[in-house]
Amino acid sequence: MSQSPVKQLHIRPAKEQDRSLIDGVIAAAFNGNDEVALVRKLVADGDVVLELVAEANGHVTGHILFSRVWIEHADGRTPAVALAPLAVLPEMQRAGVGRALIAEAHEQLAKAGEGLSIVLGDPAYYGRFGYRLELASGFESNYPAHYLQARYLSENHRDLPHQGRLIYASAFGEN
Ligand SMILES: CC(C)(COP(=O)(O)OP(=O)(O)OC[C@H]1O[C@@H](n2cnc3c(N)ncnc32)[C@H](O)[C@@H]1OP(=O)(O)O)[C@@H](O)C(=O)NCCC(=O)NCCS
Repeated sequence: MSQSPVKQLHIRPAKEQDRSLIDGVIAAAFNGNDEVALVRKLVADGDVVLELVAEANGHVTGHILFSRVWIEHADGRTPAVALAPLAVLPEMQRAGVGRALIAEAHEQLAKAGEGLSIVLGDPAYYGRFGYRLELASGFESNYPAHYLQARYLSENHRDLPHQGRLIYASAFGEN
């Protein structure tokens, strides 16, 4: 069941001083530290394209990160972004924080000239934000294809490849 939307929600870039608060949000949302380590490595490796936090009443309650992913295809390779992870504090879920983070991130990525976003996750959730299984069906990766979805970030997507191998940042392990 949805909660009432959070009032005073502010989406802003993540800062280095937020790091331990971000760790706490991610660990609580995923009930473990694997994604905390993933984010720390993505940041340390310089593979982050966009990282935002959601602040509600001055407290960090949500976090989203997009890293660089390359699509290798017959004509070379094309950059795209991969959404992972997305985390909202358990007590703040179903109140629009995830939606606000995704919407702001998509807008900023489009303005920055990014063309395609890829996500591996529940289609019931990401389908709400324009991610489509069909758009990712030509991409190969070592992850289960039935959860791979993609979304264009702008109207100008004629030159984006529909097929190829996805090369994720090394924090994700073997590609
Ligand atoms: C998944 C997660 C980020 C969603 O954040 P959230 O702030 O609760 O999501 P929102 O409140 O913005 O939800 C937006 C819409 O999706 C729906 N929704 C929320 N969680 C959902 C889920 N797991 N499956 C399907 N729909 C879901 C909401 O009801 C809402 O629908 P509405 O717009 O019709 O009212 C959050 O539940 C979370 O941190 N989960 C644990 C970590 C995780 O699994 N992350 C995603 C994988 S990387």
